[in-house]
Amino acid sequence: MNNFTFYSPTYFVFGKDQECETGKYVKRFGGSKVLIHYGGGSVVRSGLLDRVKASLDKEGISYVELGGVQPNPRSGLVYEGIDLCRKEGVDFILAVGGGSTIDSSKAIAAGTVYDGDFWDYYMGKPVVDALPIGTVLTIAAAGSEGSPDSVITKEEGMFKRGASGEGFRPKFSILNPALTQTLPAFQTAAGVADIMAHLFERYFTTTKDVEVTDRVIEGLLLTMINEAPKVIANPNDYEARANIMWAGMMAHNNCCGVGRAQDWASHDIEHELSAVYDCAHGAGLAVVFPAWMTYNMHHDVMRFAQLAVRVWGCQMDFANPEKTAKAGIEALRRFFKSIGMPGNFEELGAKEEDIEMMAHTACYGNGRTGHIGGFASLSEEDVANIYRLML
Ligand code: NZQ
Ligand code: ZN
Repeated sequence: MNNFTFYSPTYFVFGKDQECETGKYVKRFGGSKVLIHYGGGSVVRSGLLDRVKASLDKEGISYVELGGVQPNPRSGLVYEGIDLCRKEGVDFILAVGGGSTIDSSKAIAAGTVYDGDFWDYYMGKPVVDALPIGTVLTIAAAGSEGSPDSVITKEEGMFKRGASGEGFRPKFSILNPALTQTLPAFQTAAGVADIMAHLFERYFTTTKDVEVTDRVIEGLLLTMINEAPKVIANPNDYEARANIMWAGMMAHNNCCGVGRAQDWASHDIEHELSAVYDCAHGAGLAVVFPAWMTYNMHHDVMRFAQLAVRVWGCQMDFANPEKTAKAGIEALRRFFKSIGMPGNFEELGAKEEDIEMMAHTACYGNGRTGHIGGFASLSEEDVANIYRLML
């Protein structure tokens, strides 16, 4: 196991009706003038926004609002949010929504207290200072409620890029699984695919003897495989929603990624798809991951076979471990299909003629230097080959 430090100071508040306590937590973490940031309207329609505002009113906390965050959040609204926060003297950002809203909130939080262009952070500058952030989560997916990361799309060039730093860890996150019951089945399933992808990105490692994190990841994957079909069949299954929601947090706050090299090429490959076609991130990953696995299996076939045996219940073929590894990848494909995820470029709405452009941007765009991936280092040609496997 590699040396590591791990500090994840977010205060989690989990369970039914907890959003009605939002004001109390904003106050506890020092907020007196809040920006409430939200998406395209689901939180208005569900009445959640009104409940959150009532809880702020109860604590005598004033606020301004900025809605309109799109899935795959854009830089334009971030600039607008930064201007608003400066003008209004906002000292706390409250994200009410999914990963896109949280990520946009994080970008505003960092940009408001920074003299330069907030995009510098999305070119690699670590985020140290930001306004404090709180979240009320409405979808189990991105893990942004516990992660030090944010992903924004810059409209100029349509670069979708991530920024990271301890300044991005939310001060508190409120997770009420019942809030996810209004999700369309497709968004629920895309969230499941994203959570599983966050686990795969960490599972495929070059670090030896990381049994504890291997086993935690496998347990979380088994949870997703067990619970996801329940919520697809019955969107109001609170217990299954609860298990998925906490798994989503654990999958990405890095408790199961410490002490080991990680990969993340599949996320880079997917981010090109959601930048170009505006597809749901999780749906893109459902297409990317089986292809990435097929292409890179030879780097450590025993690790792929281990996943197949421990998570998918495949029989180990000691004479031909590659066969076992492939059976695991096929099981993953079948699982994604069974929950309604796309399986190829066409189903995703992607086009063959864009492959070379996307492969180039993934490896060289926005300051990248040619290779992506920590488990398997991929060139532009490798990335194009992986896109071709998705046809
Ligand atoms: O905008 P509204 O109207 O709220 O609708 C949203 C949106 O259309 C809807 N929705 C969310 N909660 C709902 C709901 N509809 C009904 N009922 C509810 N309870 O779902 C749609 C998707 O929302 P979004 O916030 O985009 O979903 P998600 O959480 O999957 O976030 C995706 C974004 O996160 C980034 C992705 O790249 C993508 O841009 N990621 C962020 C990460 C991070 N910060 O750590 C890591 C991830 O790997 C990921 O890259
Ligand atoms: Zn993701």
